Amino acid sequence: MQLTFLEKPESRIETGDWTFNGVSTRELTHCYHDYPARMIPQVAGKILDLFGHDAKLLFDPYLGTGTSLVEGMIRGINVAGTDLNPLARLIARAKTSVPDLRLVDRHIGKFNKFVFDYTPSPLVVSPTIQGVSRLEFWFKKGVIEKLYRLREFMQSVEDASSRLFFQVAFSETIRESSNTRNDEFKLYRYDAAKLAAFNPDVFTIMSRKLQRNRAGLEKYLFIIKNFKNAPVANVYDFNTVMGIPQEYITPATVDIVVTSPPYGDSHTTVAYGQYSRLSAAWLELKEPDKIDRKLMGGVAAKKGTRFNSNALNSAIERIYTIDKKRALEVSAFYSDLLASISNVAQIIKPMGYACYVVGNRKVKGVVLPTDIAVKDFFESCGFEYVNTFMRSIPNKRMPLKNSPTNAIGVLDSTMTQEYIVVMRRAPARSVFFRLPNTSARA
Ligand SMILES: C[S@@+](CC[C@H](N)C(=O)[O-])C[C@H]1O[C@@H](n2cnc3c(N)ncnc32)[C@H](O)[C@@H]1O
Repeated sequence: MQLTFLEKPESRIETGDWTFNGVSTRELTHCYHDYPARMIPQVAGKILDLFGHDAKLLFDPYLGTGTSLVEGMIRGINVAGTDLNPLARLIARAKTSVPDLRLVDRHIGKFNKFVFDYTPSPLVVSPTIQGVSRLEFWFKKGVIEKLYRLREFMQSVEDASSRLFFQVAFSETIRESSNTRNDEFKLYRYDAAKLAAFNPDVFTIMSRKLQRNRAGLEKYLFIIKNFKNAPVANVYDFNTVMGIPQEYITPATVDIVVTSPPYGDSHTTVAYGQYSRLSAAWLELKEPDKIDRKLMGGVAAKKGTRFNSNALNSAIERIYTIDKKRALEVSAFYSDLLASISNVAQIIKPMGYACYVVGNRKVKGVVLPTDIAVKDFFESCGFEYVNTFMRSIPNKRMPLKNSPTNAIGVLDSTMTQEYIVVMRRAPARSVFFRLPNTSARA
């Protein structure tokens, strides 16, 4: 019998439960900063334990806050990733950097003294924060003053890694002391009653974040310092839809990709730009407000695309019969996903893995089979299918339904599950023919 390289050990792997109900997802530097649609570290970790044994380089094309990067680093793997959201990059850099804990402690000491010595000194005029036109709409006057003084303090932190450590705590302090509802990813101002009673203690919020993050950092450093060669992290800002700069990552060098792409375009799913806007403006990050259009599917297509995925085509066709505009928006998202996958495929080594954690969202009542689309897209780039693991997401109020991934557009429980799609690049021809034990497996 002719064997393909996918007569694979993976089919015999015990994969266990992917739910991770009740486990803490905020250990190590994972405790640093909230973010929409974060991957839980246990999923990235389990993927790496199953498929990343000998990996030397991990890549994440949608790194967000760097969950998969941190999980790679604590396994001694060099990591790289990209994200178009500058706040995400800042958090990811902070989570993967390896600062000197004594320096961080020294700066925390200085911060405590700064708070102890603080005497209110009202600002004569409200500062201008580029990217936030109505500062006093989003923050109370006293809050603006303290954030402003805090930012001045942080500018005195010279060590870059320590400053990053302070910046992520500052970002969360901005979110929590703003007049916005914290349980929302979009910017919604508190109603009048809530606003009247809202009196956040800026310095106490910052102090708590610093303490929590320091505890996570200490545990993370303990692990990283045990490696003879400390793993290295690189966080980039290129768009894999457009290409992957060879000066950063050369073709066929990545052992494993572990990533969770956005569920859909920012306008109709998660508005990452809006989520990040206030923090990014205070932190003077580039283009705080304009990223949503640049993210996947940010610009609607003028005409539909036929994809090399029958399941995806039939779902989009069904949406088209209900709402043409939405169908074109959906189509634009998958065009970007396909372009990104085609580029990502080239940087993966022969026999290297692509592991995509995706959700199958519903548009106009039609389930979009993103898991199948990812499989089909990678197959068209010379990859073979390894497996799809289904993960039930705990703590959702909707009842869980069993959602076989080939039942297109019929099920209702889309976002209570996510799919971990694992693909493997075909071996280079020469390597394939030299495999010594191929016949032994027959
Ligand atoms: C689901 S989140 C990733 C979350 C991440 N796994 C974590 O645990 O924090 C998707 C990310 O994709 C980013 N993104 C969307 N389109 C992008 C693109 N074309 N290039 C790079 N990043 C993009 C968004 O900014 C967002 O941070």
